Amino acid sequence: MSQQPAHPLPSYLDPQHLGPWGIYLQQVDRVTPYLGSLARWVETLKRPKRTLIVDVPIELDNGTVAHYEGYRVQHNTSRGPGKGGVRFHQDVTLSEVMALAAWMSIKNAAVNLPYGGAKGGVRLDPRNLSQSEIERVTRRYTSEIGVIIGPSKDIPAPDVNTNAQTMAWMMDTYSMNEGATATGVVTGKPIALGGSLGRVEATGRGVFVVACEAARDQGVPVEGARVVVQGFGNVGGTAARLFHEAGAKVIAAQDHTGTVHNANGLDVHRLLAHVSRTGGVGGFGEAEAIDAETFWHLETEFLIPAALEGQITKANASQVRAKILVEGANGPTTPEADDILRENGVYVVPDVLANAGGVTVSYFEWVQDFSMFFWSEEEINQRLERLMREAYSSVALVAREHNITLRTAAFVVACTRILQARQVRGLYP
Ligand SMILES: NC(=O)c1ccc[n+]([C@@H]2O[C@H](COP(=O)([O-])OP(=O)(O)OC[C@H]3O[C@@H](n4cnc5c(N)ncnc54)[C@H](O)[C@@H]3O)[C@@H](O)[C@H]2O)c1
Repeated sequence: MSQQPAHPLPSYLDPQHLGPWGIYLQQVDRVTPYLGSLARWVETLKRPKRTLIVDVPIELDNGTVAHYEGYRVQHNTSRGPGKGGVRFHQDVTLSEVMALAAWMSIKNAAVNLPYGGAKGGVRLDPRNLSQSEIERVTRRYTSEIGVIIGPSKDIPAPDVNTNAQTMAWMMDTYSMNEGATATGVVTGKPIALGGSLGRVEATGRGVFVVACEAARDQGVPVEGARVVVQGFGNVGGTAARLFHEAGAKVIAAQDHTGTVHNANGLDVHRLLAHVSRTGGVGGFGEAEAIDAETFWHLETEFLIPAALEGQITKANASQVRAKILVEGANGPTTPEADDILRENGVYVVPDVLANAGGVTVSYFEWVQDFSMFFWSEEEINQRLERLMREAYSSVALVAREHNITLRTAAFVVACTRILQARQVRGLYP
């Protein structure tokens, strides 16, 4: 009998270029020692449950036919239906969609939502297509993946280059094929179609809530604390506003248009108005412009990367002078930077926990769609805050027990929940 390698790779991936899936596999290997007897099931996490590749042909406005490659990956559904976004991007690959689906399994389990993890994508550049071409792609893609999605099977949501309108087309296409209106097949829908109040602000609000919990743990008062935010869009803008309203001082903000700094604290409401008027923080009058690299070296209580992945690297991590770093963006810190931050005593709240507010309110949207009964924004925010606080405290407890980072602890909590479900369900047949 030949020896099995540690995790035999699927034949459809190139072992020399594993891409994001390779990073995810390393993360699973890192938590395996903390899984106790559940480690027996860990191979389950190293294979997506279901991978669907579809051809998406559409007629372009000029009468020719174009074909696009589409994916839907369900990484794990042990704890509930698949849940995860759909992105439209010319560089989407299967490895990337597999990893994003796996990270959704982790995020959903870390926050204890009754979902597995899934993700979808179509390889296209939406800037090269008209609105009606994008609508045709969306509808054909939805029809093609219709065999595996559904309100109790797998529930897509918006991601990069998709939005509430995309979700409305997906919901309509699925409903037409089923012959019944199925609002619960996607989340992130327009309010007029069963969308949820509070969804737009949910991720930024979740970032703020877990930041406050981390601050309490670290003995840092939020009132009067300095806050530095990269990205002043949906996530960063909302988090900055909530910090400002809680009496913290947002001393610097950076986006694709520039970096602004005011040691006495920026007036966040006026900065938000400036961003909506001009498209970015650059040129804001009540602050000084500083260079992009200085931004990462500012002394601050909170640093919130809420823009892009890969921003804190081994090149700048050793100069970070923040007490608490809360990851609003997905993957803003590279693994090497993570080790440097830990050595320097920076307390990092990882993305899978910190930015889970969005999927949490997506869960509320789905629950409201099922019950056909809609909650007030106040109820939604209260429930969101409770779930985020509970998620933070169970991850922080595991981090303390094992003396590990919150990132490793979030993976331990999530993998434990997924594999416990796997174990009690048993193997079919
Ligand atoms: N919106 C959500 O519900 C949600 C949920 C989970 C995770 N996230 C993640 O949060 C991040 C931000 O998402 P969002 O919804 O706020 O997006 P957004 O488009 O509203 O805002 C993005 C911000 O990033 C800034 N930015 C872009 N390029 C930049 C650059 N080169 N340097 C500095 N800043 C730059 C933009 O100027 C903008 O302020 C992404 O990583 C996203 O994946 C978002």
